Amino acid sequence: MEELKKIRKHFEKKLKEIVDPKVLETLEVEYLGRKGKLTQILRSLKNRTGAERRKIGKAANELKERLERLFAVAKKDLETKHLERSLREERIDVTAPGHSMPVGGVHPLTKAAREVIDIFGRMGFAVAEGPEAETERYNFDALNIPADHPAREMWDTLWLKPERTNPKSMPAGLAGKIRNPKLLMRTHTSPVQIRFMETHRPPFKIISPGRVFRHEATDASHDIQFWQLEGLAIGREVSVANLKWTLESFFNQFFQPKAGELAVEIRLRPSYFPFTEPSFEVDMRGGDGDWMEIAGAGMVHPQVLRNCGIDPNLWQGFAFGMGIDRLAMLKYKIPDIRLFRENDIKFLKQFIGK
Ligand code: DAH
Repeated sequence: MEELKKIRKHFEKKLKEIVDPKVLETLEVEYLGRKGKLTQILRSLKNRTGAERRKIGKAANELKERLERLFAVAKKDLETKHLERSLREERIDVTAPGHSMPVGGVHPLTKAAREVIDIFGRMGFAVAEGPEAETERYNFDALNIPADHPAREMWDTLWLKPERTNPKSMPAGLAGKIRNPKLLMRTHTSPVQIRFMETHRPPFKIISPGRVFRHEATDASHDIQFWQLEGLAIGREVSVANLKWTLESFFNQFFQPKAGELAVEIRLRPSYFPFTEPSFEVDMRGGDGDWMEIAGAGMVHPQVLRNCGIDPNLWQGFAFGMGIDRLAMLKYKIPDIRLFRENDIKFLKQFIGK
């Protein structure tokens, strides 16, 4: 009974001192918890005689109820106080001036790509897209580059590990039925031409900006990953002259020669691509008067049109391809293509707001 009195005194004294709800919880554990002081007394009752057990048991149970009640009241009290305090102290001053957020910027390649899309958009070109992981058919065959043709060596290809393509490991009867699942990372954006021509009726004019991949050694002007811009225009009478005008007009808008500078000029040099006939390298002459190679282009090969179900006797057109990284390097005077993918914040910050 003495012990019970002590417990009560101590509990009530401590309770008055507590201001922190967490400390309050430890007090509850200490006295009323499973290993608490009062619980221990209640448990030890079984060792007592009948009369003693009834007497102490009654007192202990009463004390338990009392402590629980006191605890509940104190808890509620503290919670109210706590809430009042946070309402008072954490009030938000809606009239205070805001904090400014650091301003980010778009990646220079994104910037260049958006400008390209804008300029071609004004010339009536729609944007088409295709997958980055392609089949051999779209990346090569349909573009008139058969498997055993030396022209395939123009593109060093990254092949994806085939998944369940070994006919021996396929369930009986399935071998040969699953359509060529051999995938590669597209080496150029030209497969988008095929995908678009297969699913649309001419006339049309599209561009396709996108990432391409090459299995190559890297240096200041080569990366295993870069962006290309594909262009395609098919109509009844689309000509090389239309190609030349389109590219010249694009370069002049993209590079925007200042007053006093020469307009950008281009020239076409005979070249070879399996998917165009005739084919050209496109050279550009900018402000400094030097010619430099900037794009590949040509008139879409009749076989490519046929591969897509378009009659080459009715339709013809031009196509071109160029590197968006290269365009951005020239425009922003970036000396190394690898800078685009290093994500060095000092490099990227230069383009904010530009
Ligand atoms: N696909 C070519 C390459 O990656 C670039 C190209 C050249 C695209 C001529 C064209 C074209 O559409 O007509 O090297």
